Amino acid sequence: MIRIGIVIGSTRPGRVGESVARWVHDLAVKRGDAEYELVDLADYALPHLDEPLPAATGQYAREHTAAWSERISSFDGFVFVTPEYNSSTSGALKNAIDFLFAEWADKAAAFVSYGVDGGARAAEHLRQVLGRLKVADVPAQVTLSIYADFEDFSVPRPAPQHEERLTAMLDQLLSWATALRPLRV
Ligand SMILES: Cc1cc2nc3c(=O)[nH]c(=O)nc-3n(C[C@H](O)[C@H](O)[C@H](O)COP(=O)(O)O)c2cc1C
Repeated sequence: MIRIGIVIGSTRPGRVGESVARWVHDLAVKRGDAEYELVDLADYALPHLDEPLPAATGQYAREHTAAWSERISSFDGFVFVTPEYNSSTSGALKNAIDFLFAEWADKAAAFVSYGVDGGARAAEHLRQVLGRLKVADVPAQVTLSIYADFEDFSVPRPAPQHEERLTAMLDQLLSWATALRPLRV
């Protein structure tokens, strides 16, 4: 079965990212078409990139990198749940991406962004970064407004059309994750 990691791109105390990722996960698991797992960056406590060699070498000196590598290797595709910080994604997520290389390649990705303006700029930056890593990013996207789609700016209450967009996005993600799998065997 295809395995999809739903990456919580925020590590901030009081983050809303975790509840957004849980909304995604709850809807995704009901589909029954893949294994969907939450991947919490906070669980890995990655420092600022501290590997002596570039990730493209595949030679890791740190235990935290090995643990992160093992987890990411296990997936066929990803939903990146990203906040928008100063018109980009979080530093924590960019750093976590930079730790690895081959683990991302020839896999599919989709984005659920959120922020004052829906976080679209964060997702655009992520698309650029992931393109470098040979990740296939699907066009369908979910953008949630902190004002319109959250209760008290913290509890997700997305308008109904967002569920429809999430469904379309996951359809595309599953198709591409499945299509890319043979490239990696
Ligand atoms: C450092 C920082 C920068 C932010 N910059 C933006 C921004 O450029 N655009 C935007 O729409 N929202 C911005 N916001 C609002 C965040 O998108 C919003 O607070 C969101 O809840 C952050 O995600 P998190 O709670 O999961 O950390 C910023 C928030 C922080 C903490």
